[in-house]
Amino acid sequence: MTQEFILETRGLTKEFRGFTAVDDVNLKVREGHIHALIGPNGAGKTTVFNLLTKFLPPTRGEILYRGKPITRMKANEIARLGLVRSFQISAVFGHMTALENVRVALQRKLGTSFHFWKPERSLDHLNDRAMELLDEVGLAEYADVLTVEMPYGRKRALEVATTLALEPTMMLLDEPTQGMGAEDVDRIVELIRRVSRGRTVLMVEHNLSVVSRLCDRITVLARGAVLAEGSYQEVSRNPQVREAYMGSDAAEEEASA
Ligand SMILES: Nc1ncnc2c1ncn2[C@@H]1O[C@H](COP(=O)(O)OP(=O)(O)O)[C@@H](O)[C@H]1O
Ligand SMILES: [Mg+2]
Repeated sequence: MTQEFILETRGLTKEFRGFTAVDDVNLKVREGHIHALIGPNGAGKTTVFNLLTKFLPPTRGEILYRGKPITRMKANEIARLGLVRSFQISAVFGHMTALENVRVALQRKLGTSFHFWKPERSLDHLNDRAMELLDEVGLAEYADVLTVEMPYGRKRALEVATTLALEPTMMLLDEPTQGMGAEDVDRIVELIRRVSRGRTVLMVEHNLSVVSRLCDRITVLARGAVLAEGSYQEVSRNPQVREAYMGSDAAEEEASA
């Protein structure tokens, strides 16, 4: 069993009452890569993502992480193995500051590990580390700002910081640039580039300009199945990929990018 692929799916399939949303997907993500999962609306990207992150159980197929089956593990178990999904900051956490949000994520990490900190040392340690993480995503100046009051693009960066708090080996990002203006998109592209060093990233991304700038390898889904795989150059030249994208909003995005 080779370790060159950190994440692999074999025959991954999800049916919803007879409708096949994910159809026999064999995905191989190479360690250290930024890998994108793209495809027109309804292709099954979100469903694959939910299968990988344990939000949904597969109908058939296997998921392997570092060569070991994780198909039947729970989200917190795979997080402990280093496979971490980026979470949207929910309404509840919106009423905490950026620093508090990162601290909660750090506490969650401590709760699952075998470190026992002295209470008073622990708080200082958490604050220092939380500040470091905010700084890493360019949010030091937002430390004491309530999350609800942060601009949208900064909130998405905060989600990356809370993900980093769990010390991921591999990060799963679901449309990290969704709903962003051009300036925020550029900033998050740089951020993903920076935090991907020494890590593996798998991202679902609609914005093909982002994919072309960031990703080492791209898997194109259409109607639940893998249509093509390769570099951006390769898949964007593929006639079947072009056809699948015809008339979709992604094609229009690409045309206007
Ligand atoms: N919970 C569900 N029940 C029934 N059908 C679903 C469910 N989730 C997704 N689907 C269907 O599966 C297909 C793939 O959806 P999705 O994974 O959201 O695609 P994408 O993220 O690529 O736009 C769509 O046709 C969608 O309607
Ligand atoms: Mg989707």
